[in-house]
Amino acid sequence: MKKQNKINRRNWLQLGLGATIGTISLKLFGCNDSPPKKDKIVEECVPTQYDTMGPFHPNKDQADKDFDLTRFNGSADTPKGEIIYVRGKVIDDNCQPIPGALVMIWHANTHGKYTHEYDTNKIEDDPNFQGWGQMKTNKKGEYSFKTIKPGKYMFDADNDDWRAPHIHFKVARRGYHELITQLYFEEEVSLNKDDVFASKLTKIEKEQVIRKSQKGVQGIEEKASLINFEIILKKVRKEEKDKPEFADYVGDYKINFKSTPLEEELIAFYGGNRESLNITITKENGVLTAEMPIQPKCEIFPKSKDRYVYRAFEADIEFKRNEENNVIGLVFHRHYDFPKIMAEKI
Ligand SMILES: [Fe+2]
Repeated sequence: MKKQNKINRRNWLQLGLGATIGTISLKLFGCNDSPPKKDKIVEECVPTQYDTMGPFHPNKDQADKDFDLTRFNGSADTPKGEIIYVRGKVIDDNCQPIPGALVMIWHANTHGKYTHEYDTNKIEDDPNFQGWGQMKTNKKGEYSFKTIKPGKYMFDADNDDWRAPHIHFKVARRGYHELITQLYFEEEVSLNKDDVFASKLTKIEKEQVIRKSQKGVQGIEEKASLINFEIILKKVRKEEKDKPEFADYVGDYKINFKSTPLEEELIAFYGGNRESLNITITKENGVLTAEMPIQPKCEIFPKSKDRYVYRAFEADIEFKRNEENNVIGLVFHRHYDFPKIMAEKI
C-alpha cells in the first residue's frame, strides 16, 4: 500500500490548506483584495474561521464532562501542567450574544497526549485530566472553562513536524451553522509559526484564534492564566434552510470497502472485522448533517449541486443520482491524495 493511503495523524488532518483557507478568506471578506483591519473583527463580527476537527474528538460519553477539566471524577489530585481559564462570549454575525450554545472543548494533556483510544503515542497519560468538557452559554452568551495548558505533540515524526499547543472547540446552537475550530496560544511564537494549520491562517484569522494568556488576573489562582476567546457563529439564513433536495439525500449509505485499496487501513482504523460502514445523512434544524461510526454528527455545507463539504472529516460528499433523478449513492472524496470511497444508499 502506498504511504499516502495510510490513515495516520498527518494525512487525516492534512488538507489542501492553501486552497481551503484561501476559500474561507474569500468568503469571509466578500472577495475583497484587502482583509478588514483588526477592529473590524468586532465591528463586523466576522464568523470565526472553521478549522479541522482532527482524529481525537471525544467519541465516548463519560459521566464527568463539565467545564472543569482539572477535576476528573471527583479526584483529589489535579492534572499536571499550568492551570488556565478559557472564557469568552459566543455571538452571532450581527454581534448579538447567543445564549444556550453548546460549547465543547477537547485537547491534549500537558505531555501532548489525548485521552483517546486512537492516540497511540507512547507519551504519559494523566489520569487526573478530564480530556474534554462541555457547557452551555449563559443568558449573555458567556462560557468559561478551567483546564490545563495542552502540550505540543509530534504531528509528523519523519519531518520533525510538531503541533503547537491548541484547544479544539465545537460550538453549536439551533439556527446557527456549527463551528469547529482551534484556539492557539500567542506566547508559542515559534511553534505557531511552524504549525501546519496555524501557520496557514490569514492575519485576521490569526487574530481571532491565536490568543493572549493573561497572568495575575483577579479572581483566579495567582499562577493561572486567563485566555479570552470570542466565538462568532454564522446564522443559518432562510434561503439556506430546508432546501427541497435535502429530502433526496437523507438516509443511510453503506460503504463496502472489502477488496478496495482501503480495506486493510479502514479495518485497522475502525477495528474488528468490519467490512462496511454506514454514513448517515440527516436533516436537523433545517440543515444537513453527516455521521459515521466513531465520528460525531456534524453539519455538512453545500459547495455545488449535489456536492457538500464534510469538513469534520476533511472530505467532500458527492451525491449520485440515477436517470430518474433519484439519489442512489454518494462518493466520499478526501481532500488529499486518497482513494475515492463509494457508498450505496440503503
Ligand atoms: Fe489536536
